[in-house]
Amino acid sequence: MSVRIWNRLRRDGPVETARTAALRIRKLAYLREEHVWYQCDLDEQRPRRDLPEGVRLVSADVCQVDALASFGRDPEEARQCLAGGNDVWLAFEGDQPLFACFTFLHAAPVMAASGGTLSLPPGAACLEDSVTSPAARGRGIAPAAWTLIGDELERRGFRAIVTKIETSNTASRRAVEKVGFRSVAVMQHKRVGPRRRTSVEAVGSGLGSELAARLS
Ligand SMILES: CC(C)(COP(=O)(O)OP(=O)(O)OC[C@H]1O[C@@H](n2cnc3c(N)ncnc32)[C@H](O)[C@@H]1OP(=O)(O)O)[C@@H](O)C(=O)NCCC(=O)NCCS
Repeated sequence: MSVRIWNRLRRDGPVETARTAALRIRKLAYLREEHVWYQCDLDEQRPRRDLPEGVRLVSADVCQVDALASFGRDPEEARQCLAGGNDVWLAFEGDQPLFACFTFLHAAPVMAASGGTLSLPPGAACLEDSVTSPAARGRGIAPAAWTLIGDELERRGFRAIVTKIETSNTASRRAVEKVGFRSVAVMQHKRVGPRRRTSVEAVGSGLGSELAARLS
């Protein structure tokens, strides 16, 4: 048994682990989903949000990523993200983790991409796996964290952040739009057994066409 499965069994118990495994297998057999790709240009014009008082954002190191487990996420994914030279971000209130996300700097894991990896356009980072703990949702923590993450990426020379959100995920779409993300492409992905099809249609100006070329 792999360490990953063993950790999951210990954390979630056999019933939840079996349920998650069944869902994954079903997703491998049949999947149909639609995502909107968003882009935020890292310039002074972008709208900003501030973290609520007492909440702080950190760029996590490998010793801090166990906090991901409190969001039901596997810390191993965060360790792999860091090992690839990417960033894991955590927001805390006191010792309590309230928010987490990853930023990928050169290539991002995107199931719809060929080989499961999207090589990013030059100057663009990819935001993935944002989550606010259920009790802290609605306090504007995610948009404020993305504002600060944008500042840091801009300081490092990045010109844009891209992220994909399921079309039906209204909360997430509202959250990114608060801090200057605009839709640049719509991506449909369908998989039946081993057959898969991805189509991406660029909308408006921005990196949509470039993402479409890299994904289709
Ligand atoms: C998407 C998410 C990260 C937003 O985080 P957040 O810190 O709550 O962001 P905001 O406070 O700006 O709230 C965004 C929207 O969530 C919705 N919302 C507000 N309170 C909420 C609550 N208590 N519970 C759930 N959603 C709520 C509202 O639609 C809100 O938009 P509005 O402020 O225009 O009304 C968070 O909802 C989340 O973790 N969702 C589950 C994981 C997920 O879908 N991640 C995104 C993957 S792309």
